[in-house]
Amino acid sequence: MITGKFPNLRLRRSRKNDWSRRLIEENNITPNDFILPIFLIEGKNKKQAIKSMPGVYRYSLDKISLVVDKAIKLGIPMVALFPYTQKNKKDSLGSEALNENNLVCRAVQLIKKKFKNQIGVMCDVALDPYTSHGHDGLINSNHVANDSTIEVLINQSLLQAQMGCDVIAPSDMMDGRIGKIRKALDKNGYYMTQILSYAVKYASSFYGPFRDAVGSKGVLIGDKKNYQMDYRNSNEALREVALDIKEGADMVMVKPGLPYLDIIKLVKENFKIPVLAYQVSGEYSILSNGINKRLIDKSVILESLISFKRSGANAIISYYADRLDKILK
Ligand code: PBG
Repeated sequence: MITGKFPNLRLRRSRKNDWSRRLIEENNITPNDFILPIFLIEGKNKKQAIKSMPGVYRYSLDKISLVVDKAIKLGIPMVALFPYTQKNKKDSLGSEALNENNLVCRAVQLIKKKFKNQIGVMCDVALDPYTSHGHDGLINSNHVANDSTIEVLINQSLLQAQMGCDVIAPSDMMDGRIGKIRKALDKNGYYMTQILSYAVKYASSFYGPFRDAVGSKGVLIGDKKNYQMDYRNSNEALREVALDIKEGADMVMVKPGLPYLDIIKLVKENFKIPVLAYQVSGEYSILSNGINKRLIDKSVILESLISFKRSGANAIISYYADRLDKILK
């Protein structure tokens, strides 16, 4: 594989000038590679800072057109919606997930009505923004129940599809939910609604700031290790992906991102399917706080984003996506 020998071969020759570096670049990144997450909150005229994620905000519905409009102008193909749920709307069953008037439902309708197919809308399927215990599913004798949770997730997916959601993204990690959701979508005529499976989602402490953003910080009882993956494992990631492909997933996600580039590469090389990476809240927070405190230069953002592409990711969910004009220039 490796040919040539010093001093005939000098790899620094091709690195000397910018034009030459550009000429032989192996990877690049464009706005097409991004999904912008948007946090939603009740109320009017709100742009509320999220303390643990400097530069990220929760928006009331009357403000999201501006955010989506900017995303479209930047050339971003899709936004992902996440609701901040007030305490009084949470219960042990996560009932608010099935309220056709909840924040996500209203936001999807609004965006699709106004922007049609200029941009895709993706919605998380999981109960954690809505449960009083902070778990992604229903609790049965101190354990997150698999099969009964799926029944609720099916209804949550159908509701989102009905509202106009383009991509249903189950992030709950229950076994078998992709197949059941696909079947229910098809049966109800939503056979063109895509499924992005969070097939490989690790039980991670990098999600900390997100839980603050959606209002489930301090709410979570215990941890999510009995459904999210063990970060010591990678073969198991392939089993998760293989199952979800068979069940009908159109795309799969690996999450978190930066500490799991090996998994992205492994999944891509084994299955040759669209693989998405999630640069999660903790990663965002570390980079942004490091930059704000002048510990590192802001060019770490582009460096870390390119690393996702290098590892084989087709696209990246990133909280930086709304500032791509500055980051990619
Ligand atoms: C909920 C969900 C989580 C994230 C996305 N969807 C948190 C969790 O599983 O606890 C995390 C995203 C982030 O940290 O940016 N199922």
